[in-house]
Amino acid sequence: MSVLPIRPASPTALAGRTVIVTGAAAEIGGAYVRAFTATGANVVAVDLLRTARQALAVTREATRTGPGRALFAPADVTSEADWRLVVERSVAEFGGLDVLVNNAAVYRRIGAKRPLTELGVEEWDHVFAVNVRGSWLGIRAVAPVMADLGGGCVVNVSSVVGRVGAVGFAHYVASKAAVEGLTRAAARELGDQHIRVNVLAPGLVDNEASRALNTGSYLDSSAQARALSRPMQADDLVGPLLWLASPAAAFVTGQTVIVDGGQVFA
Ligand SMILES: NC(=O)c1ccc[n+]([C@@H]2O[C@H](COP(=O)([O-])OP(=O)(O)OC[C@H]3O[C@@H](n4cnc5c(N)ncnc54)[C@H](O)[C@@H]3O)[C@@H](O)[C@H]2O)c1
Repeated sequence: MSVLPIRPASPTALAGRTVIVTGAAAEIGGAYVRAFTATGANVVAVDLLRTARQALAVTREATRTGPGRALFAPADVTSEADWRLVVERSVAEFGGLDVLVNNAAVYRRIGAKRPLTELGVEEWDHVFAVNVRGSWLGIRAVAPVMADLGGGCVVNVSSVVGRVGAVGFAHYVASKAAVEGLTRAAARELGDQHIRVNVLAPGLVDNEASRALNTGSYLDSSAQARALSRPMQADDLVGPLLWLASPAAAFVTGQTVIVDGGQVFA
């Protein structure tokens, strides 16, 4: 197998690339979209149609600050048909497809933490449909196109809870562990096509979704448990994500990069 040439790790190494970010309407996804357009990459920002107002605010702001452009592609990541349209649109609008960030998830919409004995089958299946099937369908949709274009890269967003467990949302925890398994399988299968697949595993981010699901004291104690003991922001994830997506990480695949200020060493 030939090895992709290693290109300089400059901040502009993603300029002109086409990036799909799912779950783009929320705070973390929005930070990813803005970070990519700031490098000069063009972004297809995917989220459910019901988030159109927030998603369009994200894409307008990211395009305004540029230099890359962002557009909103309403889609449900559990739908094969929607993925076909997203991929077609990426190639049609921006002339390529280089990076997929599988960030969409059922997290905030879990509602409230509950013992696993109280979870229902339908909610379990829905969390897996979005978090796991959605990530797999995304990889399945982009892989042939990336392969035809000479290669690409996928970053699946999991969570440290998939490694260490957490109380109150077993379906979510299990789904994030599954995302890591999917990543390793895909990295092995797609390496020959020059497609890298890695995981970005955030710790607890101090955002709207986490504040809806956790008490303030839980967020505080989590921040205190870190080697770098402060609350984590969406922007703390941006540097590691850009690195994973960039040619600087050209020989990194099948790996999990934990970004949590030094709480979980696993
Ligand atoms: N917030 C945290 O503390 C934290 C910690 C670790 C990992 N993560 C992960 O980071 C990512 C972003 O988290 P967040 O806090 O923004 O979560 P969130 O629940 O606020 O946002 C998730 C986004 O995904 C979108 N989405 C949900 N179902 C979808 C579907 N079927 N199709 C398309 N889009 C869909 C939602 O509309 C929303 O915009 C998730 O993968 C989450 O698991 C978050």
